Amino acid sequence: MEFKMGVLPGDGIGPEITAQAVKVIDAVCARYGHQAKYTYAEVGAAAIDRYGDPYPEQTHRVCMESDAVLFGAIGDPRFDNDPSARVRPEQGLLAMRKALGLYANIRPVSPFPSLLYRSPLRSEVVQGADFVFLRELTGGLYFGRPQGRSEDGKTAYDTCVYSREEIERIVRLAFEYAGKRRGRLTVVDKANVLATSRLWRQTVQEMAPQYPGVEVEYMFVDNAAMKIIQQPSHFDVIVTENMFGDILTDEASVITGSLGLLPSASVGVHTSLFEPIHGSYPQAAGRDIANPVATILSAAMMFEYAFSLPKEGAAIREAVARSIQEGVVTEDIAEAGQKPSGTQAVGDYIARSIR
Ligand code: IPM
Ligand code: MN
Repeated sequence: MEFKMGVLPGDGIGPEITAQAVKVIDAVCARYGHQAKYTYAEVGAAAIDRYGDPYPEQTHRVCMESDAVLFGAIGDPRFDNDPSARVRPEQGLLAMRKALGLYANIRPVSPFPSLLYRSPLRSEVVQGADFVFLRELTGGLYFGRPQGRSEDGKTAYDTCVYSREEIERIVRLAFEYAGKRRGRLTVVDKANVLATSRLWRQTVQEMAPQYPGVEVEYMFVDNAAMKIIQQPSHFDVIVTENMFGDILTDEASVITGSLGLLPSASVGVHTSLFEPIHGSYPQAAGRDIANPVATILSAAMMFEYAFSLPKEGAAIREAVARSIQEGVVTEDIAEAGQKPSGTQAVGDYIARSIR
């Protein structure tokens, strides 16, 4: 096959980790007889510096013309503590999600057995956890209008809006996922307080009879936050709205003991996007210490989801597992007394082992 790939390295460690994923994609192509063509574009602070816009038109065009987009990270401390900044790097991410119609963010949470001891939870609690989040990504509080301040500046407001259509399309995806996995779908909401949550619940209840093989469970978000650390193995597929999903996926990511290992896919109307779930880690930028594995595993998700090539995805996963087994890992997951490898060395090892 021939793929056209958009590559958006973004900010902080973004460029160095996406470079490792590109190496790995090249290795997969060499081994399986595919061809990847890359077009690079700017997003986030990098794009603000160059175009004054965190998601410029050129970048959107590259995304729309690609078969899949590989994305590094967004965020720059220059903007974080300046409430008066007119444009922020994060707006680029939101604009990109909206423009590409990426309504579903898929975040699998499964610990690497050999790294269980690094989890902040006891190993016997994390063991056997294997679930996936479907976070709604283009609605809710992030995009609802009105949003802003009153004229005197003394009151601020955000609006949570969901239409039935927006709920249906992500819930449909969630049912399909659950059907292909262990057949349990947990809907996380706050239906005891929020009108939008009650519409979510009603919509799911109406759709459920079409999926008799899936057992649906409803859970309030506060309870879900607790259950995720008490008994993570309870879950199979979790579907939830944008803000709840933002918070819960961060919570869930740390129970695996290794934020630097978790990939994600965002899918929807136009080109799908693949990115690590961690941020731009500016303190590590350019130091060859960042863990490239989450981005490399995002490339595995790309082969599986965007190109329907599971063997290629599996080859990446196997090579990553081997690098961890052999101790070719960055400092964040190196064992005491083990010499850590650099970002590039880890990328080289994984690419070589695929070839
Ligand atoms: C994420 C991030 C973004 C979000 C920020 C950077 C806008 O935290 O991808 O989870 O809140 O969606
Ligand atoms: Mn987040």
